[in-house]
Amino acid sequence: MRSTFEKLTSAVVMILLLPLLSTAQSASTKKQMASLIDENMQFAVKQYQVLKANTPADRMPRSFAQGRSITSGTEWWCSGFYPGTLWYLYEYTKDANVKAEAEKRLALLEKEKRYTGNHDIGFMIFCSFGNAYRITGDKKYKDVVDTAAAYQITRYRPSIHSIQSWNKSKNLNCPVIIDNMMNLEQLLWVTQHGGSGKYKEIALTHANTTLKNHYRPDHSTFHIVDYNLDNGEIIKKVNGQGAHDTSAWSRGQAWGLYGFTMMYRFTKNKTYLEQAKNIANFILSHPNLPADKIPYWDYNAPQIPTSRDASAGAIAASALLELGQYVGKTDRATYVDAATIMLQSLSSDAYRAKPGENGGFILKNSVGSFLANSEVDVPLTYADYYFLEGLLRYKKWYL
Ligand code: GLY
Repeated sequence: MRSTFEKLTSAVVMILLLPLLSTAQSASTKKQMASLIDENMQFAVKQYQVLKANTPADRMPRSFAQGRSITSGTEWWCSGFYPGTLWYLYEYTKDANVKAEAEKRLALLEKEKRYTGNHDIGFMIFCSFGNAYRITGDKKYKDVVDTAAAYQITRYRPSIHSIQSWNKSKNLNCPVIIDNMMNLEQLLWVTQHGGSGKYKEIALTHANTTLKNHYRPDHSTFHIVDYNLDNGEIIKKVNGQGAHDTSAWSRGQAWGLYGFTMMYRFTKNKTYLEQAKNIANFILSHPNLPADKIPYWDYNAPQIPTSRDASAGAIAASALLELGQYVGKTDRATYVDAATIMLQSLSSDAYRAKPGENGGFILKNSVGSFLANSEVDVPLTYADYYFLEGLLRYKKWYL
C-alpha cells in the first residue's frame, strides 16, 4: 500500500514534470536542462570541497551516516568513482583545484591497476584513469588502463565462458554477477585503443553468457549466477542484494541496461541493442516504478513504498541517454524523456543534498544492500558519479 505522503509526493512530482513530459527536447526543455546542468555542476564543485575536507589523504570517500564520514582503502570496489567524478567536474568547469585533487587521488589509486581480488578493476581503474586519459590525453593514464585490463582477464574462466566475479566462498562456488557487465567496458576500450583482440573476445564471450544465463523471460536479471568451475554447469541463480531470488534488484537492472547499451556502442551487434531496449522497457513499464522514476531498491521489494535507490536512478538515466543515441525517434523520445525526469528528480531536494550537508556528497538516498542493513538511505560514490555522467551526456547529445 502506498502511503498518503507517497501519493502526494508522486502527484506533486507529476504536476511539476507535466510540461516536461509533453515537451521533451523542445527548446524550453533544453533551456531548462542547460540551467539545471550548470547549477548542478557549480553546486557539485563546492560540495566536493566538503567531501575532500572529510577524506584523509590516504583514503577514498565511501559514504556518510549518522553524521560521520565513512571512507575506504583503495582496494574497495568503489575507489575509482571519487577521482572519476572529479574528472567529470573538471571536464565541465576546468577548475584547476578540482584537477589537482583528481591527480592526487589517482596517484593514491594507481597501485590497484594490478588488483585481482574480484572483477571490479574495471570500475576502479576505467572510471578514474580512463576518464583522466579521455580528458587530458596523457599517455601515462592509458598505460594504467592497459595494465589493469591485463590483470582483469586473469579472472576469465574458460569452463564457464565468463570472468569470475567473486572468489569461492561458503555459499558460492564460482559466482558471476550482473554488475560484471560494467567492467567489460575497460576490455573493449583497450582492444579499440591498440590493445590485443583477446580483451574484446573475452568481453563478448562474457556478455553472451550473461545474456543467456542471467536474464529471465521478462528481461529482468538475477543478481548472481553460480557455476561449477569443473564442468561449467550452473549450480544456482540467486539474488545477493535483491529482495529474493526471483525479484528484480533495481541496481542490477540498471547495471545490465548500461552494460548492454555499452556493448552495442563497441560492437554494433543488434542483439545487444535489443537486449538493452528490452531491459529499458522492463524498467520503464514496471508498475512499481514511482512517478519520479527513481526506483525503490528492488522492483519487488516486500513492502512498497520503501527506500529509493538514487544510484539505480542515476545509472539508468545515464544508460538511457546513451541508448537514445542508437534508436529511432519514438524510442529516443521515450528514453530521453524518462532520463530527463530522473535527472530532474535527482536534482530536487528529495534526493540532492543541501549545501555543506551529506558529508559533501551530492546525492542522498542510495541503498547498498537493504536486507543486510548495509548502506541504506545513504550517499554512495557511484550515485554521484553516474549522476554527473548523465548530466554531461545530456549536455553532449541533447542540448
Ligand atoms: N557492484 C556492487 C553493487 O552494485 O552494489
